[in-house]
Amino acid sequence: MENNRECYHCGPNHPELTIPLFAYGFGFSPTELDEAGRTDAQRYTDLVEASCSRWEGEGLPSREVDELTGRPTGFRTQRLPIDQSGESYTMDTRAACRLPMGAVQDKALGALSFWTQPNSWHHFMGDHVITFTALPLSAGRTLVRTTWLVNKNAVEGVDYDLERLTEVWKATNQQDADLVAIAQQGAQDPAYETGFYSPYTEGLVEKFAAWYIERLKDYLA
Ligand SMILES: [Fe+2]
Repeated sequence: MENNRECYHCGPNHPELTIPLFAYGFGFSPTELDEAGRTDAQRYTDLVEASCSRWEGEGLPSREVDELTGRPTGFRTQRLPIDQSGESYTMDTRAACRLPMGAVQDKALGALSFWTQPNSWHHFMGDHVITFTALPLSAGRTLVRTTWLVNKNAVEGVDYDLERLTEVWKATNQQDADLVAIAQQGAQDPAYETGFYSPYTEGLVEKFAAWYIERLKDYLA
Protein backbone atom coordinates (compact mmCIF):
# COMPACT_ATOMS: atom_id res chain seq x y z
CA MET A 1 0.00 0.00 0.00
CA GLU A 2 2.80 2.42 0.89
CA ASN A 3 5.19 1.33 -1.86
CA ASN A 4 2.66 2.08 -4.59
CA ARG A 5 1.94 5.52 -3.17
CA GLU A 6 5.40 7.04 -3.18
CA CYS A 7 8.09 7.16 -5.82
CA TYR A 8 11.01 8.26 -3.67
CA HIS A 9 12.22 4.70 -4.11
CA CYS A 10 11.79 4.67 -7.91
CA GLY A 11 15.06 6.30 -8.99
CA PRO A 12 17.43 3.90 -7.18
CA ASN A 13 15.23 0.77 -7.52
CA HIS A 14 13.38 0.86 -10.84
CA PRO A 15 15.89 1.30 -13.71
CA GLU A 16 13.36 -0.02 -16.27
CA LEU A 17 10.27 1.88 -15.06
CA THR A 18 12.06 5.21 -14.80
CA ILE A 19 12.83 5.15 -18.54
CA PRO A 20 9.18 5.99 -19.42
CA LEU A 21 7.97 7.17 -15.97
CA PHE A 22 8.85 10.46 -14.29
CA ALA A 23 9.12 9.85 -10.55
CA TYR A 24 8.36 13.55 -9.98
CA GLY A 25 4.62 12.98 -10.53
CA PHE A 26 4.42 11.48 -7.02
CA GLY A 27 6.03 14.41 -5.20
CA PHE A 28 9.62 15.34 -4.52
CA SER A 29 11.65 17.41 -2.09
CA PRO A 30 13.12 20.39 -3.97
CA THR A 31 15.91 20.83 -1.44
CA GLU A 32 17.14 17.27 -1.92
CA LEU A 33 17.62 17.66 -5.69
CA ASP A 34 20.96 18.51 -7.25
CA GLU A 35 21.23 20.88 -10.21
CA ALA A 36 20.51 18.14 -12.77
CA GLY A 37 17.53 16.96 -10.69
CA ARG A 38 16.10 20.48 -10.48
CA THR A 39 16.43 20.92 -14.25
CA ASP A 40 14.71 17.57 -14.83
CA ALA A 41 11.91 18.36 -12.35
CA GLN A 42 11.30 21.68 -14.12
CA ARG A 43 11.27 19.87 -17.48
CA TYR A 44 8.64 17.52 -16.04
CA THR A 45 6.48 20.37 -14.66
CA ASP A 46 6.62 22.18 -18.02
CA LEU A 47 5.82 18.95 -19.87
CA VAL A 48 2.74 18.27 -17.69
CA GLU A 49 1.41 21.74 -18.44
CA ALA A 50 2.12 21.60 -22.20
CA SER A 51 0.87 18.01 -22.57
CA CYS A 52 -2.34 18.54 -20.58
CA SER A 53 -3.18 21.62 -22.66
CA ARG A 54 -2.57 19.68 -25.90
CA TRP A 55 -4.57 16.61 -24.80
CA GLU A 56 -7.47 18.62 -23.44
CA GLY A 57 -7.46 20.54 -26.76
CA GLU A 58 -8.01 17.14 -28.40
CA GLY A 59 -10.97 16.53 -26.11
CA LEU A 60 -9.16 14.18 -23.71
CA PRO A 61 -9.64 15.00 -20.01
CA SER A 62 -6.13 14.94 -18.51
CA ARG A 63 -5.74 17.22 -15.51
CA GLU A 64 -5.46 15.82 -12.02
CA VAL A 65 -8.61 15.01 -10.07
CA ASP A 66 -7.89 14.04 -6.46
CA GLU A 67 -10.73 12.67 -4.35
CA LEU A 68 -8.63 10.22 -2.36
CA THR A 69 -10.33 11.10 0.91
CA GLY A 70 -13.83 12.10 1.96
CA ARG A 71 -15.61 9.25 0.13
CA PRO A 72 -15.68 5.43 0.36
CA THR A 73 -14.64 5.11 -3.31
CA GLY A 74 -11.60 7.40 -3.02
CA PHE A 75 -9.64 7.88 -6.22
CA ARG A 76 -7.10 10.03 -8.02
CA THR A 77 -6.72 10.35 -11.76
CA GLN A 78 -4.35 12.21 -14.05
CA ARG A 79 -2.94 11.72 -17.53
CA LEU A 80 0.81 11.67 -16.92
CA PRO A 81 3.33 12.41 -19.63
CA ILE A 82 5.66 9.56 -20.59
CA ASP A 83 9.30 10.47 -21.26
CA GLN A 84 11.00 10.42 -24.69
CA SER A 85 8.43 9.40 -27.35
CA GLY A 86 5.57 9.77 -24.84
CA GLU A 87 3.85 6.58 -26.01
CA SER A 88 4.06 3.65 -23.61
CA TYR A 89 5.55 1.95 -20.53
CA THR A 90 8.15 0.07 -22.56
CA MET A 91 11.95 -0.03 -22.51
CA ASP A 92 12.17 2.40 -25.46
CA THR A 93 8.91 4.27 -24.60
CA ARG A 94 7.46 3.30 -27.99
CA ALA A 95 4.10 1.54 -28.33
CA ALA A 96 4.34 -2.21 -27.65
CA CYS A 97 1.25 -3.03 -29.70
CA ARG A 98 0.82 -2.03 -33.35
CA LEU A 99 -2.96 -1.67 -33.01
CA PRO A 100 -4.21 1.32 -30.98
CA MET A 101 -6.68 0.81 -28.14
CA GLY A 102 -9.11 3.40 -29.50
CA ALA A 103 -9.81 5.78 -32.34
CA VAL A 104 -7.44 8.56 -31.21
CA GLN A 105 -4.67 9.11 -33.75
CA ASP A 106 -2.20 10.80 -31.37
CA LYS A 107 0.19 8.04 -30.23
CA ALA A 108 1.86 10.15 -27.55
CA LEU A 109 -1.04 10.00 -25.11
CA GLY A 110 1.07 9.44 -22.01
CA ALA A 111 -0.69 7.27 -19.45
CA LEU A 112 -4.08 8.10 -18.02
CA SER A 113 -3.66 6.75 -14.53
CA PHE A 114 -6.54 5.85 -12.26
CA TRP A 115 -5.57 5.03 -8.67
CA THR A 116 -8.38 3.76 -6.47
CA GLN A 117 -8.53 3.28 -2.72
CA PRO A 118 -7.54 0.90 -1.38
CA ASN A 119 -5.91 -1.63 -3.66
CA SER A 120 -6.00 -1.14 -7.42
CA TRP A 121 -4.37 1.10 -10.00
CA HIS A 122 -4.74 1.30 -13.76
CA HIS A 123 -2.76 2.93 -16.56
CA PHE A 124 -4.40 3.55 -19.94
CA MET A 125 -2.03 4.23 -22.85
CA GLY A 126 -2.61 4.56 -26.58
CA ASP A 127 -1.52 0.97 -27.28
CA HIS A 128 -2.30 -0.97 -24.09
CA VAL A 129 -3.73 -0.85 -20.59
CA ILE A 130 -2.07 -2.17 -17.44
CA THR A 131 -4.19 -2.90 -14.41
CA PHE A 132 -3.01 -3.97 -10.94
CA THR A 133 -4.70 -5.33 -7.84
CA ALA A 134 -3.07 -6.07 -4.48
CA LEU A 135 -5.04 -8.73 -2.58
CA PRO A 136 -4.24 -9.57 1.05
CA LEU A 137 -3.85 -13.35 1.56
CA SER A 138 -2.81 -13.22 5.21
CA ALA A 139 -1.19 -10.76 7.61
CA GLY A 140 2.20 -11.33 6.01
CA ARG A 141 1.35 -12.21 2.41
CA THR A 142 -0.10 -10.24 -0.50
CA LEU A 143 -0.97 -11.33 -4.02
CA VAL A 144 -0.27 -8.72 -6.70
CA ARG A 145 -2.11 -9.41 -9.93
CA THR A 146 -1.14 -7.49 -13.07
CA THR A 147 -3.11 -7.68 -16.31
CA TRP A 148 -2.01 -6.31 -19.67
CA LEU A 149 -4.82 -5.47 -22.11
CA VAL A 150 -4.38 -4.84 -25.84
CA ASN A 151 -6.78 -4.24 -28.73
CA LYS A 152 -9.10 -7.28 -29.04
CA ASN A 153 -7.95 -7.85 -32.64
CA ALA A 154 -4.23 -7.81 -31.78
CA VAL A 155 -2.40 -11.10 -32.37
CA GLU A 156 0.57 -12.13 -30.21
CA GLY A 157 3.79 -12.35 -32.21
CA VAL A 158 2.23 -10.34 -35.06
CA ASP A 159 0.97 -7.09 -33.53
CA TYR A 160 2.89 -7.29 -30.25
CA ASP A 161 5.71 -9.20 -28.62
CA LEU A 162 4.70 -10.49 -25.17
CA GLU A 163 8.15 -9.94 -23.64
CA ARG A 164 8.36 -6.35 -24.90
CA LEU A 165 4.81 -5.65 -23.70
CA THR A 166 5.37 -6.96 -20.18
CA GLU A 167 9.09 -6.56 -19.35
CA VAL A 168 9.00 -3.13 -17.66
CA TRP A 169 6.28 -3.97 -15.13
CA LYS A 170 7.43 -7.56 -14.58
CA ALA A 171 10.82 -6.19 -13.51
CA THR A 172 9.18 -3.41 -11.46
CA ASN A 173 6.82 -5.78 -9.63
CA GLN A 174 9.72 -8.06 -8.65
CA GLN A 175 11.78 -5.08 -7.43
CA ASP A 176 8.82 -3.87 -5.36
CA ALA A 177 8.19 -7.37 -3.96
CA ASP A 178 11.83 -7.47 -2.78
CA LEU A 179 11.60 -3.98 -1.25
CA VAL A 180 8.31 -4.75 0.50
CA ALA A 181 9.74 -7.98 1.94
CA ILE A 182 12.67 -6.06 3.44
CA ALA A 183 10.38 -3.32 4.79
CA GLN A 184 8.10 -5.94 6.36
CA GLN A 185 11.08 -7.58 8.06
CA GLY A 186 12.19 -4.20 9.37
CA ALA A 187 8.72 -3.30 10.69
CA GLN A 188 8.58 -6.60 12.60
CA ASP A 189 11.92 -5.98 14.32
CA PRO A 190 11.54 -5.11 18.02
CA ALA A 191 13.88 -2.14 17.49
CA TYR A 192 11.58 -0.63 14.84
CA GLU A 193 10.08 2.73 15.68
CA THR A 194 7.40 4.38 13.57
CA GLY A 195 8.25 7.70 11.99
CA PHE A 196 6.30 10.39 10.14
CA TYR A 197 5.61 10.56 6.42
CA SER A 198 7.59 12.95 4.26
CA PRO A 199 5.41 15.95 3.36
CA TYR A 200 7.12 16.04 -0.05
CA THR A 201 7.33 12.42 -1.20
CA GLU A 202 4.72 10.63 0.89
CA GLY A 203 1.67 12.87 0.62
CA LEU A 204 -0.25 10.11 -1.15
CA VAL A 205 0.67 7.59 1.58
CA GLU A 206 -0.70 10.09 4.11
CA LYS A 207 -3.95 10.29 2.13
CA PHE A 208 -4.26 6.51 2.12
CA ALA A 209 -3.89 6.46 5.92
CA ALA A 210 -6.47 9.27 6.19
CA TRP A 211 -8.92 7.36 3.93
CA TYR A 212 -8.38 4.18 5.98
CA ILE A 213 -9.09 5.99 9.25
CA GLU A 214 -12.24 7.51 7.71
CA ARG A 215 -13.47 4.06 6.69
CA LEU A 216 -12.78 2.61 10.13
CA LYS A 217 -14.65 5.49 11.80
CA ASP A 218 -17.58 4.98 9.43
CA TYR A 219 -17.62 1.25 10.11
CA LEU A 220 -17.48 1.70 13.87
CA ALA A 221 -20.05 4.54 13.99
FE1 LIG B 1 7.95 0.62 -6.72
